[in-house]
Amino acid sequence: MNRLENQVAFVTGVARGQGRRIAVRLAEEGADIIGVDLGSGGGFDIDTPHYALSTDADLARTAELIEETGRKAVLRHADVRDFDSLASAVQEGVETFGRLDVVVANAGILSVSPVLDLEERAWQQNLDVNLTGAWHTVKAAVPHLRAGGRGGSIVFITSAAAMLSVPGIGHYATAKAGVNALAKSLAAELGPEWIRVNAVSPGNVDTPMIDNEFTRRLFLSHLEHPGKSDAQEPDSPYVRLHALPVPWVEAKDISNAVVFLASDDARFVTGTVLPVDAGYLVKK
Ligand SMILES: NC(=O)c1ccc[n+]([C@@H]2O[C@H](COP(=O)([O-])OP(=O)(O)OC[C@H]3O[C@@H](n4cnc5c(N)ncnc54)[C@H](O)[C@@H]3O)[C@@H](O)[C@H]2O)c1
Repeated sequence: MNRLENQVAFVTGVARGQGRRIAVRLAEEGADIIGVDLGSGGGFDIDTPHYALSTDADLARTAELIEETGRKAVLRHADVRDFDSLASAVQEGVETFGRLDVVVANAGILSVSPVLDLEERAWQQNLDVNLTGAWHTVKAAVPHLRAGGRGGSIVFITSAAAMLSVPGIGHYATAKAGVNALAKSLAAELGPEWIRVNAVSPGNVDTPMIDNEFTRRLFLSHLEHPGKSDAQEPDSPYVRLHALPVPWVEAKDISNAVVFLASDDARFVTGTVLPVDAGYLVKK
């Protein structure tokens, strides 16, 4: 498929998980990729998630996978909390490829705590990465969309948590609700320039953010050593979350929704929050 032939996409949090899959799917559709992630570039103070963030090897693997599609990649270390590092990564990518068409604000972190028990730094890291980082991403990228004069498409990766109450991640839900509001506000502001702005809202996705021992112990607290196969049992609490009988969606499902929103197939779609959650929201 060539729905994005010779276009250029910028993706944050590109080293692994959904960001990697989104970048590779956009490349399969014909786009060259500008991407950023932390790696040895910083982010060592982000210490409140219950899982490790990505490595340099992850970022290098994403570059290989993009290049295997026949498209090119400019992947750099940058922290979405740091506007200047993001802006210079996008600038370098646009100088290399000559244009920018698609922006995917995907980088994010998750930590778990009742809201009133949160330490100040957990609250702040969550807001800085998940909400301010999303704002920095569009602030760095939109001038390049505008300069092209061809319009463009912006997609935020938000969360079903923004739309309902999920005990233990209220701070994350608050940040993602902010992302939804940001997407809708930008859709109104940028529509006259044919820049469309939407969000994809996953439920649980099988990435390192939830595929870890800590999360399994939360969901499967009745088991001493819960494993991934326990989560996939038909009556597991993971499966019971959803209308469809699955424990989670996969990164490829999110990437397919991003390709749709990025492409002309969605040419009149703007200001939407699209759930890709196996019926998580309708089940609640
Ligand atoms: N996995 C899920 O169940 C789930 C559900 C709903 C929404 N989401 C959202 O999906 C997005 C992608 O998450 P994922 O599931 O792929 O998790 P992940 O942890 O596998 O990937 C997130 C990526 O973002 C990067 N990142 C984190 N902080 C960064 C920063 N400050 N600057 C640059 N990069 C940074 C990480 O290094 C990592 O490579 C996130 O916004 C997340 O909140 C995930």
